[in-house]
Amino acid sequence: MFTPDTLAGKRILITGGGTGLGKSLGRCFLELGARLIICGRRLEVLEATAEEFRRETGGSVQTLRCDIRDAGQVEVLFDTIWRAGRLDALVNNAAGNFISATQNLSARAFDSVVNVTFRGTAFCTMEAGRRWISDGLPGTVLSILSTSVFTGRAFTMPSAASKAAVLAMTRSLAVEWGPKGIRLLGVAPGMFPTEGAWERLRPEGTQATGEEQKIPLRRVGQHGEIANLCAFLLSDMATYMNGDIITIDGGRWLQEGGAANKALFDWSDEDWAAFRDRLKRRGV
Ligand SMILES: NC(=O)c1ccc[n+]([C@@H]2O[C@H](COP(=O)([O-])OP(=O)(O)OC[C@H]3O[C@@H](n4cnc5c(N)ncnc54)[C@H](OP(=O)(O)O)[C@@H]3O)[C@@H](O)[C@H]2O)c1
Repeated sequence: MFTPDTLAGKRILITGGGTGLGKSLGRCFLELGARLIICGRRLEVLEATAEEFRRETGGSVQTLRCDIRDAGQVEVLFDTIWRAGRLDALVNNAAGNFISATQNLSARAFDSVVNVTFRGTAFCTMEAGRRWISDGLPGTVLSILSTSVFTGRAFTMPSAASKAAVLAMTRSLAVEWGPKGIRLLGVAPGMFPTEGAWERLRPEGTQATGEEQKIPLRRVGQHGEIANLCAFLLSDMATYMNGDIITIDGGRWLQEGGAANKALFDWSDEDWAAFRDRLKRRGV
C-alpha cells in the first residue's frame, strides 16, 4: 500500500518526537518521503534523534525546543515553522502521565499532567489551525489518545480526563474546521512498550505476570504497527476521514476496561511512597 513517496511533499510536526512512539512515527514518515519537524523540551534528545534519522534515511529533519505547556513558546514554535513554509500536519504526541492514587495527588501534580496532555495539545492545535485558516490552506491534526477515552483509567485520572478532553476537541473542531479543509483525527493505542511509559506507568512489581496473555491478540503492539496507521491517516489515501478515532490495541480495552493495571489495587502506602521517591530522583 505504501510507496517511498506516500508522504512526499508533506511537512509534518510531531510534538515529543524525540523519544518513544513519536520517534517511531517520525522514522516511518521520513521513510515515506515526509519532511519532519520534531519538538520537545530537551534539545539534546531531539538532536540525537534527528542525527540518527538523517543517517538512516537521509531525510529532512528540523528540531525545535518547545515546552508546549507554555502558550507563548507554542506561538513562537509555530511562527518559526511558518516562516520556513507551510505545515501539512500536526501530530499531537507529547504527553505527561504517571500512576498515583488520585486522592493523594497535589494540585501541582494534577496540573503537571493536564498542562501538557490537554492544554499543551490544545495550544498547538489552535496555533496550527489559526494559521491554516488565515492562509486558506488545508491541514490535518492527528492526536495520540489512549483507550482510556472509552473507559476512564484507574490510577491515572488526570491523563484519562485530559485524553477525553482531546477527543472532545477533535470532534468539536472536525465539525468547526471541516468546512475549511482541516481534518482532525485520533489514534487510541493500547500497550506499546516505550521507556517513558513503562517507567511512569508500569514500574517493576505492578505488572502481573502474563500481562500479554490478557490481550486478546496475546501480545503488545509493535511501533511499526501504529506508525503505519498514522502514516495512512496523514496520507492522501485517508482524505475523507475526519472526526474519528481509531483504536489499535489488540482488543485489550474490550477485555480489561478502565482497570488495566490491577496490581496497583494491592499497593501499600509504602509501595506508593517508594514509587514517588523514584520518580522524584529521576526529575519526573
Ligand atoms: N506507549 C504506550 O503504550 C502508549 C499507550 C497509550 C497512549 N500513548 C500515548 O503516546 C504518546 C507517546 O507516549 P510514549 O510512550 O512514547 O512516551 P514518551 O517517550 O515519554 O514520550 C513523551 C514525549 O513528550 C515530550 N514532552 C513531554 N512533556 C512535554 C512538554 N511539556 N513539551 C513538549 N514536549 C513534551 C517528551 O520530550 P521532553 O521530555 O524532552 O519534553 C517525550 O519526547 C503519548 O501521548 C501517550 O499518552 C502511549
